[in-house]
Amino acid sequence: MSHPVAAPADFRQLIYEALKAWSARPDAGATLAGLRLVQVELDAGAANPRQATNRVLLSAIKALALAHGREADLLRMRFLDGQAIHIVANRLNAAEPSIYRWQSQAIDHLAALLWQQEQQAIEQRIAALEARLEPATYSELVGVEALQTALLEQLLGPPAAYLTSINGIGGIGKTSLADAALRTAIRRAPHNEVAWISARRQRFDFGGRLHSLDQPALTVDALLDALVVQLLPGTPRFAEASQAIAALRASFTRQPVIIAVDNLETAADLQNLLPVLRQLANPARFVLTTRHSLFGEPGIFHFSVPELSEADALRLVRLEAAQRNLSGLAAADAAVLRPIYQTVGGNPLAIRLLIGQAHVRSLPGILEDLAAARGAPVEQLYSYVYRAAWERLDEPCRRALLAMPLIAPQGGSLEQIAAISQLDLGALADALSELVMLNLVDSRAPLLSRRRYSIHALTRTFLLEQVARWM
Ligand SMILES: Nc1ncnc2c1ncn2[C@@H]1O[C@H](COP(=O)(O)OP(=O)(O)O)[C@@H](O)[C@H]1O
Ligand SMILES: [Mg+2]
Repeated sequence: MSHPVAAPADFRQLIYEALKAWSARPDAGATLAGLRLVQVELDAGAANPRQATNRVLLSAIKALALAHGREADLLRMRFLDGQAIHIVANRLNAAEPSIYRWQSQAIDHLAALLWQQEQQAIEQRIAALEARLEPATYSELVGVEALQTALLEQLLGPPAAYLTSINGIGGIGKTSLADAALRTAIRRAPHNEVAWISARRQRFDFGGRLHSLDQPALTVDALLDALVVQLLPGTPRFAEASQAIAALRASFTRQPVIIAVDNLETAADLQNLLPVLRQLANPARFVLTTRHSLFGEPGIFHFSVPELSEADALRLVRLEAAQRNLSGLAAADAAVLRPIYQTVGGNPLAIRLLIGQAHVRSLPGILEDLAAARGAPVEQLYSYVYRAAWERLDEPCRRALLAMPLIAPQGGSLEQIAAISQLDLGALADALSELVMLNLVDSRAPLLSRRRYSIHALTRTFLLEQVARWM
């Protein structure tokens, strides 16, 4: 038997209290009710926390008996059978002070054992929750610390809204942010529940290939089925959506739950899906990732994922290069790397694709390909990021977007874009709202000055060459 580390004093105290309460009535509560070990017994069918606690204690005393038989006997006599000290002293043929000393030692050992079991149970719980997520695509996220903190606050702190959406263009890092937030939430509060629902239809790999996923578009029924599988395992399928919703809501009262819905923009029927999310929300908290911002919907807390800054983009370049053992690139000067940022901007997906090509191509060659929209990987990257959105655009939207590369990188005013696009102000304002909603154009409105519109460097590069082939 490995030697368990000593349990913290307050944990030992809890165990002692629980032993003393062995015969307490179920409605007296249970001091160990917060333990994962007790929850496991409840899930396995214990009638109440009191009974679950006793099962946990009993199995620990049995384990203790393997190494410390006499201590286990002593604990049984004293707490399970409720025998007084003098009786036990008599039976074990020892003086009362010795019994007190043994008892104290026995509780130390029992607490150490339970502490170790509890840590293992928590690790198992964490692993089971993490298994509901998709494998992480990153080893480290760069430049998004503030966003991560604010997002976690929405998921674990007092929420401003129960629906949180992460908005942004393809490849900007929405899924990764949601994934990182759930992973942190799982570690910080492993007793909470999490679920991960993916509505993704496509995957882009760093060899530059776009894969269609063999997965139907997300519907209300598919969403509810997936939630029941993850949150109410073993429950048969419900015939009616309303029954599934009621069962899920009932389970939410037992422990807090965070549900991620990834790529909501691909859902088959958002107008039917959103009301279901609202029925489940509060107490459930949702984090939605979407390329189409839901600014028109009430009660949603929005995060827009911005491009990485130049410094963070270059950090990601070096990190990615180092991980791929491209040591020359990893050690290169900012001056050498800056053209990467000028061409793809701060889009992490594009940066990682580009570095992935560096095993077989020179950096200037890769950048030329990107600028000229040459080669399959580049073509597929543009398809992944822009195709679906481009196809949704009507004529005025396309004209407004095509005017954007002629605007200064810091952005332009409505009037400047009107002059270039030849759209009248009303039509242009509508077109820009749509483009902002689709995250193709960024809009910034410093409180006391005029709204300015800008595009990411990757979008600029895309508009200058690739898009002509789609028209
Ligand atoms: N902040 C970041 N730092 C490092 N890598 C990132 C970052 N954000 C995203 N990535 C990586 O870039 C790629 C695209 O990110 P992803 O989260 O899939 O974007 P989205 O969901 O917005 O399309 C992924 O491989 C991801 O691991
Ligand atoms: Mg995504």
